[in-house]
Amino acid sequence: MVNADKLRLGVNIDHVATVRNARGSAYPDPVRAAKLAEAAGADGITAHLREDRRHIRDADIDGLMASLATPLNFEMAATAEMQSIALAHRPHAVCIVPEKREERTTEGGLDVAADDNRLAQFIAPLAAAGCRVSLFIGHEPRQIKAAARIGAAVVELHTGAYCDHHYEGDFAKRDAELAALIEGAALAHSLGLEVHAGHGLTYDTVQPIAHIPEIMELNIGHFLMAESLFVGMEPAIREMRRLMDEARA
Ligand code: PXP
Repeated sequence: MVNADKLRLGVNIDHVATVRNARGSAYPDPVRAAKLAEAAGADGITAHLREDRRHIRDADIDGLMASLATPLNFEMAATAEMQSIALAHRPHAVCIVPEKREERTTEGGLDVAADDNRLAQFIAPLAAAGCRVSLFIGHEPRQIKAAARIGAAVVELHTGAYCDHHYEGDFAKRDAELAALIEGAALAHSLGLEVHAGHGLTYDTVQPIAHIPEIMELNIGHFLMAESLFVGMEPAIREMRRLMDEARA
């Protein structure tokens, strides 16, 4: 049944590590941030170990695995190195994302349709190790169908374009993206996929996404960390939680 459970909030703590790495210091500690996020109501913690280790590092993943009370959603590119790290840790969830060195953030979704054989082989050992495998994709039906075909448990729909159009003031494009996300979530659910969403979400953009009944989890990072600078992490997360619950009610 759709929408039987509360919409989960996964808090991405990557940018705590970005601030730490800017000075090469030992602080702020992303593990401490993750524990505060849990205390503020996060249902899980997300961390992206990038190939270039620009924010989260291997030792952070060790620390998160050792100290979290909630599930870790380990974001990673589909590379042999990341696969062996995931298999060593066996986090609750592994979210496969496309990764380019030159990008500032994850710019688009995975092209599962074009890379289905390789991705099917890539995710099989992760699923066999007990990780819930999620694929970060756009809302295009061919990507959603390909994700179901290769045996992913979860798809995370990329909300970045929807959020960008909102802040550019192009509301026609924003609404078209939202309509496509609504359709994509329904299609994914009908194919037996659990549906998550994320990227770029803020207080201004979260509610129409939280309102989509098939979506079970939102993963939010950059905005929450930015807002935490002004109000602190717990109030920032609690306000996001409140907006999500209000949209869902
Ligand atoms: N979901 C995925 C798969 C991501 O790659 C990211 C960014 O790391 C997020 C969610 C969170 O995006 P943001 O930091 O913009 O909230």
